[in-house]
Amino acid sequence: MNPDPSSAPGGKTNTAALAVEHLSKSFGERVAFRDVSFEVGYGEVFGFLGPNGAGKTTTVRTLGTLIGPTSGSATVAGVPLTPENGVEIRRRIAIMPELPGLYLRLTVTENLECFAGLYESPDPRERIDAALGAVNLADRAGDPCGALSKGLRQRVALARALLGDPQVLFLDEPTSGLDPVAARDVHELIDELRQRGVTIFLTTHRLEEAERLCDRVAILNTTLRMIGRPDDLRDQLFAKTITARTLKPLPDPDGVFGGVAGVDGWHADGSGGYAIAVSDSTVAAPAITRALVDAGADVLSIGESRHSLEDVYLELIDEDAELQTGPG
Ligand SMILES: Nc1ncnc2c1ncn2[C@@H]1O[C@H](COP(=O)(O)OP(=O)(O)OP(=O)(O)O)[C@@H](O)[C@H]1O
Ligand SMILES: [Mg+2]
Repeated sequence: MNPDPSSAPGGKTNTAALAVEHLSKSFGERVAFRDVSFEVGYGEVFGFLGPNGAGKTTTVRTLGTLIGPTSGSATVAGVPLTPENGVEIRRRIAIMPELPGLYLRLTVTENLECFAGLYESPDPRERIDAALGAVNLADRAGDPCGALSKGLRQRVALARALLGDPQVLFLDEPTSGLDPVAARDVHELIDELRQRGVTIFLTTHRLEEAERLCDRVAILNTTLRMIGRPDDLRDQLFAKTITARTLKPLPDPDGVFGGVAGVDGWHADGSGGYAIAVSDSTVAAPAITRALVDAGADVLSIGESRHSLEDVYLELIDEDAELQTGPG
């Protein structure tokens, strides 16, 4: 059983699984991440994205009590992040690290037994079997970890993270190096854990994975660049666009689109369509359709252009690169 998520030492209650305030970590002169603040609710799947060296793993290691922050504060699973609370926090969380870190001469089961021992699990056998089943490794349980492929080792590390019944699970690139089927299995596992109410902090470079799994995502590039639901990030970064296609070019597109309420501008998209910038597509799309029909146009299609999370990500990271190199 998980301890009550709302109870923390000292009788304080905290409704967030993770509450991070102005947290920074430097290694000497090198800043790994700076002034990062965010909250993650209990039961949320939270994606943490960013380029190589952005500070994602260092954030996981800091919140996971493996290293101390340079400044700022955080609460993890209801417990303030302090050196004295390290044991209490580690009881409530689990980390699947970037590199599996297994005893290569020991078998899969022996590796899990070592860690189940650390968790003082009352029924280690049952938990190990459940964890192996969850990652589809039961048939390799007797193999030495050194004889497993990279992806299989990754799955052992994931099984290990599931042993302690964590409230908050940190997964640092859990599908890196996995084949598409194994990656899909991990996605399904994450969905199951979500249904059981486990809070998941997921770093990933697979943007479609973040888009599919995460309630909210944050984009980190040493500082936190953006945070929100994937849909909201799209809306914040990109104007909404309706694309309309007609059988023949419109003789007077200005006359058609200019008079429609909610249309902010338009241009021909170069492939026989019109890209129309709008503020609210639920109002503008029907109005544009009516205006086209009234103008006698033969409408082939009309639809909202969607930006992917990848578009959002690339836009932000490109912006950062431009800021760094400066204009010209
Ligand atoms: N122990 C350390 N000593 C010195 N510098 C470190 C240490 N750990 C991380 N760094 C530096 O901190 C920065 C952030 O590294 P981090 O591993 O957190 O990035 P990341 O976002 O996880 O990248 P990736 O996507 O490649 O995994 C990098 O510049 C890295 O070199
Ligand atoms: Mg990393």
